[in-house]
Amino acid sequence: MPQRFIYDLKRTHSCGQLTSEQAGQQVVLMGWAQRRRDHGGLIFVDLRDREGLTQVVFNPEVDQGAHSEAHGIRSEFCLAIRGTVRQRPQGMANPNLTTGQIEVYVDQFEILNPSQTPPFLLEEWIEVNENIRLQYRYLDLRRPEMFANLLFRHRAAAATRDYLNQQGFLEVETPFLTRSTPEGARDYLVPSRVSPGRFFALPQSPQLFKQLLMMGGVERYYQIVRCFRDEDLRADRQPEFTQVDLEMSFVCEDDVMALTEGLVAAVVRAATGRELALPLPRLTYDQAVGRYGLDAPDVRFGLELVDVGELVGRAELKLFAQAVAQGRMVKALNGKGMAGLSRKDLEDLTSFVADFGAKGLAWVKIKENGAWQSPIAKFFSVELQGAVNERLQAGEGDILFFGADTPAVVHESLGRLRLELARRFGLADPQVLAFCWVTDFPLMEYSPEEKRWVAMHHPFTSPRAQDLDLLTSDPGRVKARAYDLVLNGSEIGGGSIRIHRPDLQARVFQALDMPEHEAQEKFGFLLEALTYGAPPHGGLALGFDRLVAILAGQPSIREMIAFPKTQKASCPLTGAPAGVDRAQLLELGLSVDVKNK
Ligand code: AMO
Ligand code: AMP
Repeated sequence: MPQRFIYDLKRTHSCGQLTSEQAGQQVVLMGWAQRRRDHGGLIFVDLRDREGLTQVVFNPEVDQGAHSEAHGIRSEFCLAIRGTVRQRPQGMANPNLTTGQIEVYVDQFEILNPSQTPPFLLEEWIEVNENIRLQYRYLDLRRPEMFANLLFRHRAAAATRDYLNQQGFLEVETPFLTRSTPEGARDYLVPSRVSPGRFFALPQSPQLFKQLLMMGGVERYYQIVRCFRDEDLRADRQPEFTQVDLEMSFVCEDDVMALTEGLVAAVVRAATGRELALPLPRLTYDQAVGRYGLDAPDVRFGLELVDVGELVGRAELKLFAQAVAQGRMVKALNGKGMAGLSRKDLEDLTSFVADFGAKGLAWVKIKENGAWQSPIAKFFSVELQGAVNERLQAGEGDILFFGADTPAVVHESLGRLRLELARRFGLADPQVLAFCWVTDFPLMEYSPEEKRWVAMHHPFTSPRAQDLDLLTSDPGRVKARAYDLVLNGSEIGGGSIRIHRPDLQARVFQALDMPEHEAQEKFGFLLEALTYGAPPHGGLALGFDRLVAILAGQPSIREMIAFPKTQKASCPLTGAPAGVDRAQLLELGLSVDVKNK
């Protein structure tokens, strides 16, 4: 058959478009054969493109030759057809399909390209090993769910650009081949051929460049930009991921936060059609950790941590009394109506919290009239039991959990337990979007591994003016002018007001135990730039993959990325990372020494 489609016969409609309104019209469709069914001499093919499915019919009475060729059509053959739209016979309509009222009687068609049998079925929601999906991502992307995810992401990105363009932001590209930008992960390095033995680092974020743009007078910058971090991967982490990165001059925290709220509201509106109530709630870091155990709290449900140290310290129980006497803490949470947890459940939960450093998990089931059933009940007088019940608003059917340890262990373990209980009992409504800001982070935290203070955000974050005197005397108490944006318990963004005075930047490097020569070596260019009238500035970056994954209700950011990496930071489709020729290594002045890896 001479090729007529593409050249002469142009596509007239998509496969998701035709209804009874077009009955009688001649149309041209192009797409993929989802499946073929032979029925009483007729051949039915569900033709699929990104917009939907249309049933096309090959009738031997229309064209004998075409009909017999149609027998050869298999799943994922790429087809073009011309035919006439017909109302489906009575009782044959499919109400689940936009095009379910009609079918197209083919009078001409062309197999644009046959297909091997696909390694997995592309029809409904499929349970396929993710490695196989990623190896054949181009087939996986033909699935309507995946196209919907790409479209969702596209809409969110378009809304981001629209909003920021309207707010006077300039989109500026920053280098990928650069120096290390510290955000707490390992760098991906790129060897330089021209300067043997020297390396570029792929940016962990455009942090330094966006600050330099402010020093360059750009005033309002944004970029939807790839960032590279070599860190342990999880469902919400990729080695390369996308940030909506922005920076503004002459602003304070409230300005950046208000701008971001407008941006997020615009993205939510464009992607989901929902309206956010603004301003978003704010918690300080101390409140977030104190009440929810974690600095990225899921505030869709209560189950808050309550300090009971002062009460349980009075019990005959050494465990608690000692914890309180020795300046550790005891906190508890009340699992409302969760007293049905079995011994086995409680053992599981005990080993669950052990992973976060807890040495045990004391529990109390509340019976009739507030009576305690618990291994530790005997250490508490009836009055004390009553007082604890009252403090935790506990009643029959509830279970109380206690953690006694350092604040770090109590918060981390009970905070995780809170999420685990919410998961088991379905407390977090997946329909709810609970955004909140977390503010007033500590500027630094002590790293026992590195035996020094490390920046909690990055070393360019400004301390609060009122805390400057503490920089050397009590670094742990210095608060940062930093803010994180949290959605349903995930950190989806973070930023800060930056240091814009060189003397303060030098003091902060000093507080971080970074010797002067090292600061000069790594960030001398920034320190110098600060000496040329750098404006006050601040900004933030949203984790775009995370934001769209949560908004789209997807369990992993990999579902929102066209070509993501596996948990092992590799790409099954291209086989990256891959070995390289000896010649290439020689040219770079490199040799590889990988034993047993
Ligand atoms: P931060 O390091 O907090 O800030 O990054 C901003 C947001 O990016 C997302 N994110 C990730 N998403 C997917 N995979 C990863 N590996 C990953 N790592 C981070 C998170 C996070 O909140 N330069 C600063 C921003 C600033 O100060 O303006 C920065 O990069 O959602
Ligand atoms: P024990 O006296 O060690 O048998 O512990 C009594 C109960 O307290 C058990 O349920 C332990 O799981 C729990 N427990 C032990 N250590 C802690 C701790 N640090 N915090 C909370 N509960 C604990």
